[in-house]
Amino acid sequence: MNLPARVRIVDVGPRDGLQNEAVQVPTDVKVELIERLADAGLPAVEATSFVSPKWVPQMADAPDVTARIRRKPGVSYPVLVPNLKGLEGALAAKAEDVAIFGAASESFSRRNINCSIDESLDRFAPVCEQALAAGLRVRGYISCVLGCPYEGEIAPEAVARVAQRLHAMGCYEVSLGDTIGTGTPAKAQRMLETVARHVPLQQLAGHYHDTYGQALANILASLELGVATFDSSVAGLGGCPYAKGATGNVATEDVLYLLEGLGIETGVDLDRVVAIGAWICETIGRPNMSRAGRAIAAKTARQAA
Ligand code: HMG
Ligand code: MG
Repeated sequence: MNLPARVRIVDVGPRDGLQNEAVQVPTDVKVELIERLADAGLPAVEATSFVSPKWVPQMADAPDVTARIRRKPGVSYPVLVPNLKGLEGALAAKAEDVAIFGAASESFSRRNINCSIDESLDRFAPVCEQALAAGLRVRGYISCVLGCPYEGEIAPEAVARVAQRLHAMGCYEVSLGDTIGTGTPAKAQRMLETVARHVPLQQLAGHYHDTYGQALANILASLELGVATFDSSVAGLGGCPYAKGATGNVATEDVLYLLEGLGIETGVDLDRVVAIGAWICETIGRPNMSRAGRAIAAKTARQAA
């Protein structure tokens, strides 16, 4: 296998994870979570999203979270912006990295951001243009790349079309979201091969939700093609409020354990992430979905006894 020597992990737990919690997580806890993840060596921590608080009340404190985080040099803290209003908020809070988010499925696009795919791309163009002019970096997301909760199968060409547009707008990276976690490795590879005909592989990221337990297999399949950036959530926090039944992203701890076993460097301290996973789950009263996280924490506790 010709795998990348180094992988960049983007922890999306504070955004993708906490946007889906039933309880409102205090701003202090969110800020501490983001700072602790950066201190553990994560090169990117997705902090929050500037979306309508009527749609996602969990992210209503986005301005506060963004303004308060102690930023570590060399770490990026992307925030989601669905439109110009979101970008205005992100700029006011001095965000340096924003993410626009579209979908490969018409039905999902309408449910998630209340417009068609083409309307969303028209809406993203000025967001991208103004963000780049202000010196920000822009990441792009595509949801439903391996299946849609409303439409079922999604053609790889539909993903490629949106990816190409996001790339052409100036996104430094396009993150490919298996929103409902139905993808399997061969399908993931077919999708990636199709998208990579339009966007360089080095600018693609895998964002795999683990609903069907396929995320690590999909990551390995993506690594085999040369993909070297993956999104994950500490303790497997997360889901998506507009994809019923979608569980969290693949756990950061599980991805780190896999990559360490493959001899792939990440610069992230697995033991510290395990401790953060245990802490956030206890703090917000939620089960820890990371298998590696639970196993390592149990082993550490046995050794300390
Ligand atoms: P809309 O209702 O069509 O928007 O929503 P609108 O422009 O008609 O505005 C309606 C109201 O929202 C107005 O307020 C606006 O001011 C306000 P009112 O006059 O009624 O008081 N508004 C805003 N407020 C704050 N920030 C904003 C903003 N924009 C408008 N940016 C909109 C369209 C896009 C705003 C809405 O649909 C929305 O916020 N959607 C967000 C959905 C979301 O956050 N989903 C989860 C994130 S995506 C995800 O998780 C997938 C991902 O992880 C990848 C994967 O796994 O697939 C990324
Ligand atoms: Mg997601």
